[in-house]
Amino acid sequence: MKIISSIDELRDQLRGQLRTAFVPTMGNLHEGHLSLMRLARKHGDPVVASIFVNRLQFGPNEDFDKYPRTFQADIDKLEKEGVYVLFAPTERDMYPEPQEYRVQPPNTLGNILEGEFRPGFFTGVTTIVLKLFSCVQPRVAVFGKKDYQQLMIVRNMSKQFALPTEIIAAETWRADDGLALSSRNGYLSAEERAEAPQLYRLLNEVADEVRSGHLDMFELERTAMARLAGRGWKPDYIAIRKRSDLQPPTGGDLANNEPLVVVAAAKLGTTRLIDNLEI
Ligand code: PAF
Repeated sequence: MKIISSIDELRDQLRGQLRTAFVPTMGNLHEGHLSLMRLARKHGDPVVASIFVNRLQFGPNEDFDKYPRTFQADIDKLEKEGVYVLFAPTERDMYPEPQEYRVQPPNTLGNILEGEFRPGFFTGVTTIVLKLFSCVQPRVAVFGKKDYQQLMIVRNMSKQFALPTEIIAAETWRADDGLALSSRNGYLSAEERAEAPQLYRLLNEVADEVRSGHLDMFELERTAMARLAGRGWKPDYIAIRKRSDLQPPTGGDLANNEPLVVVAAAKLGTTRLIDNLEI
């Protein structure tokens, strides 16, 4: 595997490649990331991964400084997956001057749910993703469904800018007890780790209620939030939304069996976890 930090060198290395499959990451790779590499391999060749902890998408009080950086272990894992190039730019490579041009997702999608609780997050994500796409020029790029809203926003960006990159969605990789894998799980104490799968259990219960005909979404959301709070969590949101645009379903949508997803974000101790489940 070639490890490249400079954009010019990356372009030289990938010149003429028309079927590149790309997986952008922030490192601290776990089995979930590796499943994205395997899916990428099914959709293109060569597989290119990136590791870049993108300061632009972190708020001033978020975990940019303590975000886990495990570069050598990540390299070993990517080598085993047969990744052709790891693009691992420094901040100076990626942002040699202040990044004044940024992508602004529409408020209706970028300022709700995660965007409401993490102002500027999706601008940071789409700006770096567009820039990474410009460097790698992939034919396909793989994003996990765990970050459901991010996946949708990146897909819409690619479509609206007519980028030649198809966005492929990968299923969420879970531990045996249901907890969605995330680099931030490493922040959990042993006690919190034992409690953490409750979030996914609750999402399943909400989904079961909807499937069995309970259609008062507000009531379901409120009860689920109260139950998490009762266990000592601090929920930001549990929301039942349309899969198509992440807006709340209307009565008409429900009558028409519009596909839904329940999305959630909650803090356990100081660790903020997100998860979702398609209904
Ligand atoms: O999902 C992530 O790890 C990041 O948001 C991404 C897509 C690599 C952009 O920094």
